[in-house]
Amino acid sequence: MASQINVGMDLGSYKTAVMTSEGRRAVMPTVVGHPKDGIARRLLKTDTVFGDAAIYNRHSLEIIRPLAFGRLKFVPSDVLDTHEQDVARIQLESLEKIVEHAFSLVGVQRGTAAAAMIGVPAVASSESKDLIVQVAEKVCHSVMVVSEPFAVAYGLDCLHNSLVIDIGAGTTDICALTGVFPPPEHQQTLTMGGDAIDAELFKLLLAQYPTAICSPEMLRNLKERHGSLAEGISQVELTVVIEGKPIILNVAQQLRQACQSLVEPVFNGITKCLSIWDSETQDRLLRNVILAGGGSRMGGLDGVLERRLQDYYGLARVSCVDDPVFSGAAGALKLAMEMPSEHWTMVRKAA
Ligand SMILES: Nc1ncnc2c1ncn2[C@@H]1O[C@H](COP(=O)(O)OP(=O)(O)OP(=O)(O)O)[C@@H](O)[C@H]1O
Ligand SMILES: [Mg+2]
Repeated sequence: MASQINVGMDLGSYKTAVMTSEGRRAVMPTVVGHPKDGIARRLLKTDTVFGDAAIYNRHSLEIIRPLAFGRLKFVPSDVLDTHEQDVARIQLESLEKIVEHAFSLVGVQRGTAAAAMIGVPAVASSESKDLIVQVAEKVCHSVMVVSEPFAVAYGLDCLHNSLVIDIGAGTTDICALTGVFPPPEHQQTLTMGGDAIDAELFKLLLAQYPTAICSPEMLRNLKERHGSLAEGISQVELTVVIEGKPIILNVAQQLRQACQSLVEPVFNGITKCLSIWDSETQDRLLRNVILAGGGSRMGGLDGVLERRLQDYYGLARVSCVDDPVFSGAAGALKLAMEMPSEHWTMVRKAA
């Protein structure tokens, strides 16, 4: 056990972040692509392209984001028809390749003595967790899954009296930390996050410019650079193609409205999560609301949520994690390293 490497992974629908006890870390989009035809294959000189390279070469590739929109993580196989099962199989194979590639980025290969703790959505079904464990076990000899917001809280040492909100691409996880390992009733998963903001922005643009052409990647980049709830941003430019011609639009108002669309669902998720607690416990949780995940970077979100919660409950203190890219993986790694070795042995025996 002495030479075991511990690994923390945040397996997100948009990005996968991974860290090891040897100090290595990497992040990649949770994406794989395969050449669309022989020309693409000749150009790319490979059958499988991962992450940023896949996004860059997207016109030459069939792109697969196996975890997008909560797919795979949530859908039990018995409700799928034959076509959907084929799609699910392809997504699972793609996920295996991505996970193996992510491990390889930090030097963990098949056969490495490695124990991995993997962050998954707070209320992922047990079938989904089993799938992720099976996928990771092809590389690591011991694998455990943990809810994403719990991993964040563990990494920050905020296991008591805090409310962690992990705003990802496909889901937003809300978790009340009250000094115990959070059972399902202490957690909420909303099936909306950054992807839903991108979709709302596209819808708002099309409502005004029905023939405008722009890629989902351009909209996401625009949101990541300029997305904000702050008042007074009056100019955000986006170049779209209308009737074949590039046109520069000012989309400041649409972008703000799209970002705003996340606030009420997150507020409602928080009120649902708090509704099972007495007022004293609610107060304690509200004094330490922590935003994590890529969506926490949206300008002004902490202030807007804080005021919304203060209006409703009378008090609230909302802050953002310093490093939304790695906070989940760092917490999962800390948990992996502090897990007693007999726990890992039990996991291996059970596998
Ligand atoms: N500066 C930013 N402003 C607004 N949104 C951002 C910013 N940076 C990243 N995002 C958004 O955060 C989301 C990705 O967050 P994250 O990497 O935590 O997701 P994930 O863990 O892969 O997804 P999930 O937790 O749903 O599986 C994307 O929608 C991305 O566009
Ligand atoms: Mg996430």
